[in-house]
Parts: sequence; structure tokens; C-alpha cells
Amino acid sequence: MLPVDKILCGDSFDLIKTLPDTSVNLVITSPPYYRQRDYGGGMGNEESLQAYLDNLLTLFGECVRVIKDDGSIVFNLGDKYENSNLLLVPYRFAIQATERYPVTLVNAVTWVKSNPTPRQFKRRLVSSTEPFFHFVKSSQYYYNLDAFMQAPSKTPKSRRGDKIGRGYFELIEKSSLSDAQKKHARQALLEVIQEVQSGKIESFRMKIKGLHSEPFGGQAGGRQLQLDNKGFTIIRIHGNPLKKDVIEAAVESLKQSNHPAIYPVRLVSEFLQLLTRPEDIVLDPFMGSGTTAVACKLLNRHYIGFELNADYCKAAVERVENQSLTTPLLL
Ligand SMILES: C[S@@+](CC[C@H](N)C(=O)[O-])C[C@H]1O[C@@H](n2cnc3c(N)ncnc32)[C@H](O)[C@@H]1O
Repeated sequence: MLPVDKILCGDSFDLIKTLPDTSVNLVITSPPYYRQRDYGGGMGNEESLQAYLDNLLTLFGECVRVIKDDGSIVFNLGDKYENSNLLLVPYRFAIQATERYPVTLVNAVTWVKSNPTPRQFKRRLVSSTEPFFHFVKSSQYYYNLDAFMQAPSKTPKSRRGDKIGRGYFELIEKSSLSDAQKKHARQALLEVIQEVQSGKIESFRMKIKGLHSEPFGGQAGGRQLQLDNKGFTIIRIHGNPLKKDVIEAAVESLKQSNHPAIYPVRLVSEFLQLLTRPEDIVLDPFMGSGTTAVACKLLNRHYIGFELNADYCKAAVERVENQSLTTPLLL
């Protein structure tokens, strides 16, 4: 029996061994970063970077074992400076993971922190991003792209259309097209803006001869002919807006928890919607304050959590119990 909807207090290196092969749909977690904090034991403060990576890779191997064939693993890691040198810890981990185990790295999704820790460095910039690596063990991984980043755009379609259009009208005037070509381009632009405003298409791009780069390779052909003959071409974008490998979200802190490294519920929720179905089983072997379990509860997924620190473990259980099911997801 799987310990579903439970946060178990203990060492994930031992606890994960009790889970059967191919039994969970998704592992999503943020392990302790290399030499960043002392959580009162556990991993993270190994003697050397390679010793840290070896430990983490051992646990990763167990994650590969427990996910189903159509499952996914998402690891979020932070970086570390040593003697003013950025170690690129997350990327070393991802490279070694793909070298050591039969997994494919699908994406490195960048979390852009809208409120990074304010620091005043004189000789370097403030780090404000962290990767979330998405690994799979077969090409048949479950993937619901439509459910990812579904939040409606804050800009109504009509305003978006006007905004895009205005820039292109100016470019047409500035261009070296003939008067007849400019007239034709303005007319075509008006038509495509109306298509966006009426919802017929999602968006569009316009390319004007002499101002924009010209298509090449497989994209040449029809578009090149239009550029040569009419002086412009319009690319219509149908369906969903582009689903990009970037999520912007604020770093969270919780009144009821003193955990120092909480990742956003919203971020986890995006991955749950992309990579799992309702009722699926999600494992977080470094549960911390309980964020993954909260996101699972809100989205009707089952969770299994491991956490070594007894105080965090207790606080996480309480946080999940007190989590109202009506809280809006987009924090
Ligand atoms: C970066 S935090 C996770 C934070 C979590 N994502 C959240 O939003 O609250 C990593 C957690 O791993 C725990 N930990 C460290 N070593 C562990 C181990 N061997 N087994 C289980 N948990 C461990 C730490 O106590 C810490 O709470």
C-alpha cells in the first residue's frame, strides 16, 4: 500500500526504498541546495560538490525507479558561489543525471523571481532565476500542454491588437516600400488586427522587406515570394499562445512557517497541470513546508511527502490540513 496523502517524517534516502517500482506519476521537489543552509541534518552540506552531486544522484536514481513509464521528474535546484566563482551546480547535476540514468531532459524551465533577495553587489548582478529540470524516462510521457499556464492574459484581446498594430503601421511608413505596397500592407494589417480582435486567431507577426530578417531554409518559399512581390508577409498564429519555458513568480514566505526555502504553490501547480491527471500520485522527497502537498490538495492529486526535520514535518502536515480548498491557485 502506498502512503498516499501522507507526509512521512524521516530520511528520504531510506523511505523512497519502500516505494515499489513504477508506482508514482510525478516526482517534483526542491532538494537542499549545495552548502546554502543547515536544515538540522540531512543532505546539502557534503564535503565537496561532487559528494553532494553523488548523493543527490543516488536519490534521483530512486526517483527514476519509482516513476511510471509515462511519468516525469522535476528537480528545482539553486546555484552557489565559491570564492566569487559561480559553480553552476544545477547544470552539473542535470548533465550527470542524463549521463548516469536512462532519462531524457525535456526542458530546463526558468523560474524568474519577481522579488529576489535585495543584495547590493559591487562586482556582480543579483541572481534572480532558478531552473526546474523536467526529466522523463520514455517518450510516452503524459503531457497536457493546454493545461499549462492557462491563466487568462491581463490584456484584453482588443487592446493587444491595437498595440501590436500601432507599431507595424509606423514601420510600414518608415519602410522603403512603394506607395502602392504601403497601401496594400496597411489594408492587410487592418484585416489581421480584426481577426485577433474577433478571436479568430490568437496573434500574428508581420515582416516588412528591408526592416525584418528574411526567412531562410525550410521557411523560405511562399513567404519569400510574398516579401519579394508585395514587400511584406503576415504570419498568423492560431490556437494557444506560445507556451514558453519561463515562469515568473514571487518567492513566498508563510506566516505559519519558519521554513527558509519555500517554492511557490503556483509554480508547482503549473507542473502538476502539465504533467499529471486528477487523482495521480505525486512524490516530493524533500517536502519542507508542504508546498507540493498543498498544490496537490488544491488540484485533486494525491501526494506522498518525505521530510527529515521533525519540526518542518509537523508544520507541513498542519499547513496541508488547514489548507482551504477554495483558495485561488494563482497566488
Ligand atoms: C529546499 S527545502 C524544500 C522546500 C519545499 N520545496 C517547500 O516549498 O517548502 C529542502 C528540505 O529537505 C529536507 N531534507 C534534507 N535532507 C533530507 C533527507 N535526507 N530526507 C528528507 N528530507 C531532507 C530539509 O529539512 C528541507 O526542509
